[in-house]
Amino acid sequence: MKKLILAILVTALPGFAVAAGGGIPLDSAPIDTGDRESQARGAQTYMQYCLGCHSLKYMRYNRMAEDLGLSDEQLKALMITSEKPGDTILNAMPTAQAEQWFGTKIPDLSLVARSRGSDWLYTYLRTFYADPKRPLGVNNLLFKDVGMPHVLWELQGLKNPVVTKNEHGQEVIERLDPGLPGQLSDAQYDQTVADLVNFLDYVGEPIKQKRERLGFWVLAFLVIFFGLSYALKKEYWRDVH
Ligand code: HEC
Repeated sequence: MKKLILAILVTALPGFAVAAGGGIPLDSAPIDTGDRESQARGAQTYMQYCLGCHSLKYMRYNRMAEDLGLSDEQLKALMITSEKPGDTILNAMPTAQAEQWFGTKIPDLSLVARSRGSDWLYTYLRTFYADPKRPLGVNNLLFKDVGMPHVLWELQGLKNPVVTKNEHGQEVIERLDPGLPGQLSDAQYDQTVADLVNFLDYVGEPIKQKRERLGFWVLAFLVIFFGLSYALKKEYWRDVH
């Protein structure tokens, strides 16, 4: 019986993953996880537009500055909610209060790049659209009835949904039209979001660069070690054969 339940779960799991994606295909995030300048730009956008509500409680300011190569002045400019470089990155609004206002949990984003993935984040932050039926006036293609305002609307503008009927007669959003223009062009906005996602990817796994470098040397070691032990084996068995 246990085996049966397990088998059902395992077959059903990929289905859940697709369902969680909100049904639209994800755009691949154009990020280079070794690009520290992109991540530093993302950090700036984060502090300006996201820190009001979302903490990054597993990241410390000084660690971030060291990893991303920020100068003392650059770091100071980013430290909006704290004075001590050794502090973790906490949100500006008291979380309990904010959650009461928004009527929903406001998640810490330290690990969101790992739980959701960069492509999800990149798509999510670019698919808000005007929806007068929602309390905040916006909705999201990927996160239906989202409780978060479109905080980057000044930059992106506000898109309008183009609704059509699918083969079952249900209304579906075919695409998003430009609607209200923002300060940035589409290409500039995509770049800003990519930098932000790159920053969140770094926060999710600060040692990624090191791990990938280490991985290379571990593999190189294994190859060399294999060569040596093979030579040794040949040497030992020469007399036997
Ligand atoms: C005014 C408060 C506020 C600001 C500012 C804000 N958010 Fe949110 N965010 C929320 C709330 C509330 C939710 C929960 C939405 C829900 O559950 O419906 C949320 C959810 C999210 C989620 C989904 C997390 C998950 O896994 O479910 C992501 C990702 C996110 N926010 C990213 C950002 C980014 C990036 C910024 C900055 C550009 C930002 N948020 C700015 C309030 C905010």
